[in-house]
Amino acid sequence: MASATPAGNDSAPSARTLVIIPTYNERDNIGRIVERLHAALPRTDVLIVDDGSPDGTGAIADGLAEADDRIHVMHRTEKNGLGAAYIAGFRWGLGRDYTVLVEMDADGSHAPEQLHLLLERVDAGADLVLGSRYVPGGTVVNWPWHREVLSRGGNIYSRLALGVKVSDITGGYRAYRREVLEALDLDAIASHGYCFQVDLAWRTLQAGFAVAEVPITFTEREIGESKMSGNIVQEALLRVTLWGLRSRYERVRALLRRS
Ligand code: GDD
Ligand code: MN
Repeated sequence: MASATPAGNDSAPSARTLVIIPTYNERDNIGRIVERLHAALPRTDVLIVDDGSPDGTGAIADGLAEADDRIHVMHRTEKNGLGAAYIAGFRWGLGRDYTVLVEMDADGSHAPEQLHLLLERVDAGADLVLGSRYVPGGTVVNWPWHREVLSRGGNIYSRLALGVKVSDITGGYRAYRREVLEALDLDAIASHGYCFQVDLAWRTLQAGFAVAEVPITFTEREIGESKMSGNIVQEALLRVTLWGLRSRYERVRALLRRS
C-alpha cells in the first residue's frame, strides 16, 4: 500500500498536516487545487480561508467541505490581506492537533505534487521549510518579466536589509512545524500583504529555528487574477527597511554597551 505520509510513518510530524489555502475570488481554482492535493497526499486536511469573495468562492468551498470531512472552511467578512487570513488559519490549526501547518496558494502556482518535498524536510528535522524558486533546481514558469524582476529584486533587497542567507524569503509555499507558530507572537504581526511572508521567516530565523529551502517549480496562474498591488509592494519595502534598520541599530547598541 502507498504510505500515507511522505515519510511513510504515522508518528512523523507530517502525519498530521493541515494545508491552509487563503482565497479571494478563486472560484474556478479552489476545487481543482484541493482535488490535486488529495490525489497527491490523501491524508492531509485542508482549511480554506475565504475573505468573503464576491465571486462566490466561499459557497463553493462550503460545498467541498460538506462532501469531504478532510476539508474545512473559515469565512471572514472582508478582504483583509494575506497575512491576516493566514494568522486566522494558523490559530484554527493550533487549536487542533495538527503538527505541521502548510501555506499554499489557491491558484495552482504551488504544485501539490511537490508538497511531499517540503514535508520530508520537516520530518527530517527542519522547523520551517520554504519552497524556493531561487535555489538550484527551483524555477518559475510563465511569469511576466516584470513579476520576476520584482520578486528577485524583493529577495535581494530583503537579504541585504535583513542580513539573512535565504534565497526565497518572499515565497508563499511553506511548511511550519507547529512549535514555530506556537513560539512566535502572532498578535504582534502587523504585516497585511505579501511582506507577511518575509516577516514570519525573519521572526522564525531570529527565534533560532532551523529554516531549510527546497527547490520548487512555481507556475503562474492560468485562471483568475493576482491580488498583488502597488500598496503591497510599498508596504513590503517600508517594513523590510524598518526591520533591517532596527536590527542593525540593536546590534550596534549591544556592541556599545559591551565596550
Ligand atoms: N483570504 C485572502 N485574503 N486571500 C488572499 C488575499 C486576501 O486579502 N490576497 C490574496 N489571497 C490569496 C489568493 O486568492 C491566492 O490563493 C493566494 O492568496 C496568493 O495570491 P496571488 O494574488 O495569486 O499571489 P501572487 O501569485 O501575486 O503572489 C505569490 O507570490 C508572492 C511573492 O512571492 C504568492 O505566493 C505570495 O504568497 C508571494 O508572497
Ligand atoms: Mn498567484
